[in-house]
Amino acid sequence: MANQVIINTDIVKGKINRNIYGHFAEHLGRCIYEGIWVGEDSLIPNTQGIRNDVLEALKRIKVPVLRWPGGCFADEYHWKDGVGPREGRKRMVNTHWGGVVENNHFGTHEFMLLCELLECEPYICGNVGSGTVQEMSEWVEYMTFDGESPMAAWRAQNGSEQPWKLKYFGVGNENWGCGGNMRPEYYADLYRRYQTYVRNYGDNKLYKIAGGANVDDYNWTEVLMKHAGWLMDGLSLHYYTIPGDFWLGKGSALDFPEDEWFITMKKALHMDELITKHSTIMDKYDPDKRVGLIIDEWGTWFDVEPGTNPGFLYQQNTIRDALVAGLHFNIFHNHCDRVHMTNIAQTVNVLQAMILTEGEKMILTPTYHVFDMYKVHQDAERLAVDSSFGSYEYNGEKLPQVTVSASRNDSGKVHISLCNIDHQNGAELSLELRGGARSSEAKVSGTLLTAASMNAHNTFERPDAVKPVDFSDVTIQADRLQLKLPPMSVVTLTVE
Ligand code: AHR
Repeated sequence: MANQVIINTDIVKGKINRNIYGHFAEHLGRCIYEGIWVGEDSLIPNTQGIRNDVLEALKRIKVPVLRWPGGCFADEYHWKDGVGPREGRKRMVNTHWGGVVENNHFGTHEFMLLCELLECEPYICGNVGSGTVQEMSEWVEYMTFDGESPMAAWRAQNGSEQPWKLKYFGVGNENWGCGGNMRPEYYADLYRRYQTYVRNYGDNKLYKIAGGANVDDYNWTEVLMKHAGWLMDGLSLHYYTIPGDFWLGKGSALDFPEDEWFITMKKALHMDELITKHSTIMDKYDPDKRVGLIIDEWGTWFDVEPGTNPGFLYQQNTIRDALVAGLHFNIFHNHCDRVHMTNIAQTVNVLQAMILTEGEKMILTPTYHVFDMYKVHQDAERLAVDSSFGSYEYNGEKLPQVTVSASRNDSGKVHISLCNIDHQNGAELSLELRGGARSSEAKVSGTLLTAASMNAHNTFERPDAVKPVDFSDVTIQADRLQLKLPPMSVVTLTVE
């Protein structure tokens, strides 16, 4: 049989940092405004301005860390505009995203409240492109200084006597592009300078993240590691799954032919090569893997839904997106020695979103369900897996039909996640547990996400068209688990 999996329960290959399940929320389109922030006077039920339905949904998937305020927006954001009484905050133009008015009602205090309510770590991205060293330095002082200082006093005056705990701080975003169009040598020098004044106050210890490469710009990683590697804790990488061409047409989120399904899977799987190659360069300067590869923007990027603002990046989300998410997580798990955090773009109403809203209505996307199914891997030990799978063939090209990863949590449960990317064929596979665990004695349960058509998705009229169900296609034969994965499916098994 072509499809075989061996889970070595006695071989641990590192820890799957829960921050691999991180999110990213930018001041872009309807992500922050409407998607998260509705204001205290809204008829939509909210907690101090943050909508309750979205809050509850995000809590269920255990968001571990949230990146904000951008993205490209970060390098135009001046944090002082977003604190103090809301009615007096500066109104500005969001030049990157739709040219709409940004009223700054969601600022530092509102973001920190959101993180407190979600019980997640804040990850703030500072402004290098159009901001000063002083501005960045004062933002950190404002947020974390516990004592007498001008910024701490201003924070208290604005309602937060106590400093916040802040660990993750990004020094700029995409500084090769919207963050200043810099050369890596120039940005490396700026990184060294800016990060000097991003200080640890009291016992608040920052984890500093340098702006990293776009896709396969290996030279960027080389230069940054060489000239600033010892001054950073993390280096970012951005890679989006785009079936078409970024400028000429990315492809539709809903209305796509079979070959775009295949291309999307192929491009999602490309993440593995990118991580391998960037990590190899990082290994040269950091063999102990102290510096994390922080993939703080990833996910599908399609053409916007017809009739919507092109600057708002609103796209629907199908079972195809669910497979893309599952493939990424299996890849991230398998590189968990170097990949310490990732942040899908973006949380609500933008790109590969978890949640879509329409006024007071809210739906969960197939991607959300994958985050829900995979949350069992957060902070678990990655287990060594040997596997061989048949091919998914299309027009003479081949991809592995199935990908897999496995982990064990601290109560001893083993979780195995599998993705069958073939849009037409199911996959029968035999799974053996080794290293003490016996398949014949195992208690197995599972969850399945699949759909009957490639573009199956949830709508406000049919919010549960794509949702997880119990997976029962498991039998035990000759001390092996025999599974049948439907076409286009994501499965997570729990073995006790
Ligand atoms: O996520 C949308 C945009 O994509 C971000 O603002 C930017 O960093 C990237 O190019």
